[in-house]
Amino acid sequence: MTFNPLRERGIPLDKQLRNWRELNVTPIDPDHADPYTRCRIIAMNGIEVEAIMFSHQLARHCPDLELKQQLARVRYIEAQQQKVVNWLLPGVSSVLETTIAYEQVAVDLTAWVARMEPDSYLKQAYQFGVLEDFDHLYRYANLYEMIEHRKAEKIVDGLTEVMPGRPTYLHHRDPVDNVREPYDKSAAAPISKLHALTIMAAEQQTMNFYMNVGPTSMEPIARRLYQEIGLIEEEHVTHYESLVDPGESWWEMLLNHEYNECYLYHSFMETESDPKVKNIWELHLNMELEHLRLAAELFKKHDGRDPEQVCAPELPVPVTFEPNKAYLRELIATQIDYTTLGTGYVQEAHERFEKMQEALMGGEPAPSEQIINDNRAKSGHEYRLQTEGEHPIHSLAAKR
Ligand SMILES: [Fe+2]
Ligand SMILES: [Fe+2]
Ligand SMILES: [Fe+2]
Ligand SMILES: [Fe+2]
Repeated sequence: MTFNPLRERGIPLDKQLRNWRELNVTPIDPDHADPYTRCRIIAMNGIEVEAIMFSHQLARHCPDLELKQQLARVRYIEAQQQKVVNWLLPGVSSVLETTIAYEQVAVDLTAWVARMEPDSYLKQAYQFGVLEDFDHLYRYANLYEMIEHRKAEKIVDGLTEVMPGRPTYLHHRDPVDNVREPYDKSAAAPISKLHALTIMAAEQQTMNFYMNVGPTSMEPIARRLYQEIGLIEEEHVTHYESLVDPGESWWEMLLNHEYNECYLYHSFMETESDPKVKNIWELHLNMELEHLRLAAELFKKHDGRDPEQVCAPELPVPVTFEPNKAYLRELIATQIDYTTLGTGYVQEAHERFEKMQEALMGGEPAPSEQIINDNRAKSGHEYRLQTEGEHPIHSLAAKR
């Protein structure tokens, strides 16, 4: 069954506004919800936030009043969508629980994208990044056990393993080495553009989240760990945003954003296990089809091109949250010692990397190392969830 969002009709824009009652959605059940439903909510919130922030940036560069008014109308609907999506999260979760869910999203979404990405350079960028968020999950899970006396398996529910990836302290690179080469907009497959936008948006929301919630903890080690990982999410945003061709016009970027929203709502509608949440994905898809139609009109008018020339002729296979355990273990076994040099990857610690490490560490262990030692001292062990056996790297096996 093919679905071409450029040929489908959605809900007319003037019928999209919702009242308080409609915005007041019932959150998912914190104890019984599918963890991947929570992942889809978090991922989609990132996409909506990106839609809003992108539209604001476009408006700030747009001298035409009428255009700005149209952008404001669509953006207000995006803002309502964001409220509905993010308000599906139940209020009972602690900041740290939400953090662990954010890293689970980063792991399983990026791993899926890496598996599906047809371009080898882009694929490498996702493979590289996923091993880092995988390690963040392990660090936060130890913090969680230590300060909230609970176990991350309650959150990830055995779908995602929790164990070391590329050790977090090694993620601190010279900023120059975080910039990748972009895809070429005229040669890249449409799915590659969608992948890059999706992961960029997810990482951007994680970065913003840690910036804001990091200092809300009183525990000194928690405050320090959020600072450290927050800085790495800055590196991740730099890494992923640089994959997008900066030669795309504003109208082409808008078109890709709206197309990607259609793609993800459609994907989540197809794969959602919670019927109430599925209804929301379906409703929002029908709104996005109209946003896409409006963006396509602007693209035709201002760029003088046909949207079918840049967008996929039908939606690619649905983005799916599913376990990626074997794939991640394979990456750990083969790419754990990678770092970046310029726009490429190397396996040895080069001079610029060493210099950055020295300056940032200041002769002390990083908070991400400290937390494992602290938890070992306090809980008598470090926290891991290895459902598939021993760690693939001998030196990273749990110390007894
Ligand atoms: Fe939206
Ligand atoms: Fe992360
Ligand atoms: Fe990240
Ligand atoms: Fe939209």
